[in-house]
Amino acid sequence: MSGDERIFAACAPGLEEILAAELGALGLSARPVPGGAEASGRGAVALACLAARVSDAVALRLFDGPARGVEAALASARKTYGPGAPLAVRREGGRATLSLDAAGSPLYKRGWRARTGAAPLRETLAAGMLLAAGYDGSEPLLDPMCGSGTLALEAAALASRRAPGRSRSFAFERWPGHDAAATAALRARLAARERPAPAPIHASDRNGGALRLAQKNAAEGDLGPSIRFERCDAATAQLPAGRGLVVVNPPYGVRLGEEVSASWKALAQLLERSRAAGWARPRVPGACETAGSPACSSCTPHEGSPAPQESRRASGPTRTRRPIISVTCSSASASGLRSGTCSSPPGRGRA
Ligand SMILES: C[S@@+](CC[C@H](N)C(=O)[O-])C[C@H]1O[C@@H](n2cnc3c(N)ncnc32)[C@H](O)[C@@H]1O
Repeated sequence: MSGDERIFAACAPGLEEILAAELGALGLSARPVPGGAEASGRGAVALACLAARVSDAVALRLFDGPARGVEAALASARKTYGPGAPLAVRREGGRATLSLDAAGSPLYKRGWRARTGAAPLRETLAAGMLLAAGYDGSEPLLDPMCGSGTLALEAAALASRRAPGRSRSFAFERWPGHDAAATAALRARLAARERPAPAPIHASDRNGGALRLAQKNAAEGDLGPSIRFERCDAATAQLPAGRGLVVVNPPYGVRLGEEVSASWKALAQLLERSRAAGWARPRVPGACETAGSPACSSCTPHEGSPAPQESRRASGPTRTRRPIISVTCSSASASGLRSGTCSSPPGRGRA
């Protein structure tokens, strides 16, 4: 299948517009909807699975019409894709949709992570943070609390134009009638766009174990040469030369313990240094501080951060108001950038 296809791509709450823009940049006609984006175009399934960084799942729309027609569509889909095919029916009012999961396993599984650290970000959320901050790989980047390296690796993949799905296979490749030649041609086209990362990417962490894991993941993903790793406290992390982006997923707890508070102080010191070095005035568009959303009670204003009102005005994951620092606070399960809550698990959205 590689003709005109309609898809639904799911993402973490808050990333819908970024995902729709990503799908649009891939040549599809796309629009954000709650929980993801709808898109259509030639080879939409393969493009979204292989090349969209922010999407967690992709489903092929098999039916979208009056609810009374969905049973016949379901029977036909079972006949084509098998009785166990991962089909999803959604009914709303008098209408219904029928969709078929195209990815197989979630798209945040890039196929390179050797092991995860204590509180890893999802790759798709990390990519969303970078794109929300306007990062395109052409400027220096520092993650001073890199943990297992998700942000730095996503940055390296983005900067080197590495397709996020290049190292894995997808369910759609096993569908009957799948056009293997078209998918192979798409993989080759995407590979031809790759380039060495044009600007430095620094990743550091004070924890030696976490840093070793990040380096192992980078080696596994063949991204090691793009990233400079350093074991150090965030307060003393070396800023890459030039002006760039600090992106960070700091430790976060329901109760802000002494250790967590020390980490945020170290981050504040780094931001002061970055400002003195000519990097733009720090702004903190975290999950808790975005426009119109209530501040999260788990997050305490910290030294060096803007006052909540100020940060709320200054933030927002848009391309125009580009932050110099992109921060997310999250539980192990990740957070929505605009959801206004720190601990909500990313919904798979509607299918
Ligand atoms: C939430 S984890 C980051 C997870 C990472 N984004 C990932 O996907 O694996 C926070 C990290 O901050 C590091 N950290 C905490 N305080 C630090 C400090 N003062 N300097 C450097 N690293 C620090 C911890 O060692 C931990 O690896």
